[in-house]
Amino acid sequence: MAKRLAKRETKVTVGRWADNIFRMEFTRDWFVEYMEIWPEVFRRHGWDANAPKSILEIGCFEGLSTCWMLNNLLKHPDSRMVCLDTFQGGREHVSVAADIMTQVRETFFGNVEKTGRVDAVRVLEERSDTGLLRLLRENHDPFDFVYVDGSHLSTDVLVDLVLSFRLLNVGGLCICDDYLWEGQLDPRQTPKMAIDAFTSIFSEQIQFVPVINTQFAFNRTR
Ligand SMILES: C[S@@+](CC[C@H](N)C(=O)[O-])C[C@H]1O[C@@H](n2cnc3c(N)ncnc32)[C@H](O)[C@@H]1O
Repeated sequence: MAKRLAKRETKVTVGRWADNIFRMEFTRDWFVEYMEIWPEVFRRHGWDANAPKSILEIGCFEGLSTCWMLNNLLKHPDSRMVCLDTFQGGREHVSVAADIMTQVRETFFGNVEKTGRVDAVRVLEERSDTGLLRLLRENHDPFDFVYVDGSHLSTDVLVDLVLSFRLLNVGGLCICDDYLWEGQLDPRQTPKMAIDAFTSIFSEQIQFVPVINTQFAFNRTR
């Protein structure tokens, strides 16, 4: 976590972008750098932001990525988003001040409210594994895009990937954050091991999508 914060020079940068783009409140930046990269990834994918689309986000924190997706990927009034978060942080959030952590949920809802798209967002405030099982039990319509950015423990990321894959449309896109994250010495506390295992096992159903950052992306082919 310390490494991520140092890399992205959080507060000042977030404040600048937040004021200019969203007029929202964010104390942490885990997304601003992707605002310049994702438009090209989605353009190449053939994403039409003006058509009805659906997104599943695992791990939304204060809603920086959520609000960007609402504003830029989900412009159609029938587009929908499901967000899964405990709002309690993960193991890697121990360095986030306790007062900020207690406000994360409130900050998230306040920011989403400011997009004017609150009706498009369903929030499941629970662990991602139980939330994903809930969506599967509901026979939820498949999503066009899944963003995996919740717990960074490989055991959790593996479950998130296996379950959310079942909720991803054939032809849909999945992006996993922090594939190359070096914030923990123990590789089991980072997503890479899980992403490598998942992509090996599901290799016949996915196609790697090149991205110029530390994330990992793939399309579901069948
Ligand atoms: C890195 S943050 C998400 C950042 C956000 N996507 C962004 O770009 O601004 C990770 C989030 O995952 C949540 N989280 C951690 N473990 C989780 C779990 N097992 N289930 C659900 N959410 C979890 C944390 O509460 C935190 O808000």
